[in-house]
Amino acid sequence: MKQKILKVLESTDGYVSGEQLSKMLGVSRTAVWKNIKVLRSEGYKIDSVTNRGYRLTEKPEMLDAEKISQGLETSLIRKIEVMKTVDSTNEELKRRSRYGEPSGIVIAAEKQTGGKGRLGRAWNSDIGGIYFSLLLRPDLPPGEISAITLAAGYGVCLAVREYTGLDARIKWPNDIIVGNKKLCGILTEMSAQSDRIDCVLIGIGINVNNEEFPEPIRQKATSLRLELGRKIDRNEFFRCVLRSLDKTSAEFLAGFSQEETEHFSKLCATVGRQVSTTNGGRTIAGTAVGITSGGELEVRDEEGNIHLINSGEVVVQGIY
Ligand code: BTN
Repeated sequence: MKQKILKVLESTDGYVSGEQLSKMLGVSRTAVWKNIKVLRSEGYKIDSVTNRGYRLTEKPEMLDAEKISQGLETSLIRKIEVMKTVDSTNEELKRRSRYGEPSGIVIAAEKQTGGKGRLGRAWNSDIGGIYFSLLLRPDLPPGEISAITLAAGYGVCLAVREYTGLDARIKWPNDIIVGNKKLCGILTEMSAQSDRIDCVLIGIGINVNNEEFPEPIRQKATSLRLELGRKIDRNEFFRCVLRSLDKTSAEFLAGFSQEETEHFSKLCATVGRQVSTTNGGRTIAGTAVGITSGGELEVRDEEGNIHLINSGEVVVQGIY
């Protein structure tokens, strides 16, 4: 029914009334209205005016694996798949990894029905964003993998800066922010034997053409569209992100250079701010003064002692 309504709207120049649609398609006006609602949630812009009806004003630009792959030369990423809807791209990759999916696949989705954030939170996955996961099978011991999330965040941050010119920064360890608002979050999951990693899933959610956010995150979240005041080509932007992510991940696996660590620190909005974190029941508060080559956050407390933080939630003064 949804497709039939869409067809009529696409082939009509002006407005078509709910009554006309219901007669044409042999369904109730309530059914028409419900399907219009679904189409809107899928990104179709449908104007509705009393006594005139509905008019299609904008179609969503869908992610397209072929367009994304055009001219994309990568060393780790070898395959891109786009799904319309999935529970979570991390979960989808987890399922596939159990059947032996090789390293280097990216699964992206237009919409997630159960998008997962860190610390058991949900991730808002409405139409307009880019939600994807990358599966890697690096030959590394489990202890060396946490910093890959930093490398991924670094890659996304560089891509946002390059593609949009926005002053995107990293909120350690792996949020990307613009101003003081969150643009991107990363959830890395891993399955490993005691001494070897079996697979790493790097799940990345970027708010791209999202126009608004639900109440609990409205004050804290932003999107490229909201920052730039215009829509961007998601396929082109996604290509730029994958190119950058591939590069920083490969560099990380080969060992970050001193220069890269310094550049990362420069882009890290946490450095130079007052922070506090609770680790094993102990709270550490002080000024974030840098990032180590292993990706830890260096925090100097009031007495001048340096603490190295390698995981957990860090509260940063001045950022959401
Ligand atoms: C966070 O900041 O809490 C992490 C958010 C990670 C969201 C992404 S969206 C793609 C992938 N699939 C998920 O279910 N989560 C990650």
